[in-house]
Amino acid sequence: LLNLAAPTDPAWTGRALAHLDEILLDHAHCEKKAAATALGLIFRYPEQPALMAPLSRLAREELAHFEEVLRHLEARGTPFCRLPPSPYAAQLTAAIRTHEPAKLLDTLICCALIEARSCERMKLLAEALDGRGDEPALRDLYRGLLQSEARHHQSYLDLAELVYPGPRAEVRDRLRALALHEARVLSQAPPLPPRLHNA
Ligand SMILES: [Fe+2]
Ligand SMILES: [Fe+2]
Repeated sequence: LLNLAAPTDPAWTGRALAHLDEILLDHAHCEKKAAATALGLIFRYPEQPALMAPLSRLAREELAHFEEVLRHLEARGTPFCRLPPSPYAAQLTAAIRTHEPAKLLDTLICCALIEARSCERMKLLAEALDGRGDEPALRDLYRGLLQSEARHHQSYLDLAELVYPGPRAEVRDRLRALALHEARVLSQAPPLPPRLHNA
């Protein structure tokens, strides 16, 4: 499921639950970044018409998620502000090859893996909050969003298979290799500060 090479360290959930406002703030930035990434691909690849409508839809959905998380921040009295990003995305995308069509394939797979990790962690948070019972609004937020992120994971993989001109087996091989890389990046990340995408 979700094609992740390794599950999240169980210790992450406890750290996240102890810093829910910071996790939520980071989450807002992640949704904003997800929208920007999808829109960025639309600008970078106009010669790939099959990407345009699906990525436009995805960008709009991520912006709707951004607004949803902003509403939760406001309700909690936590102002939106700048937050230094975790090294996760930069280290993950450092493995993207620089020549086409490998570059587009790797980019779409990295996007799929980021969506998968978001989905996995939102599920961990939803389940943990379900057990606590004191944060029903956040539990419902994560429970609702994790389904979208699972769908985004699959959309990016479907797009990768659709636009990559090489053999299908190459897409699966590259997915496995980048999933291992993603798990390694997480295992080597410093454990603090707590982030949606950090150790
Ligand atoms: Fe999202
Ligand atoms: Fe997403």
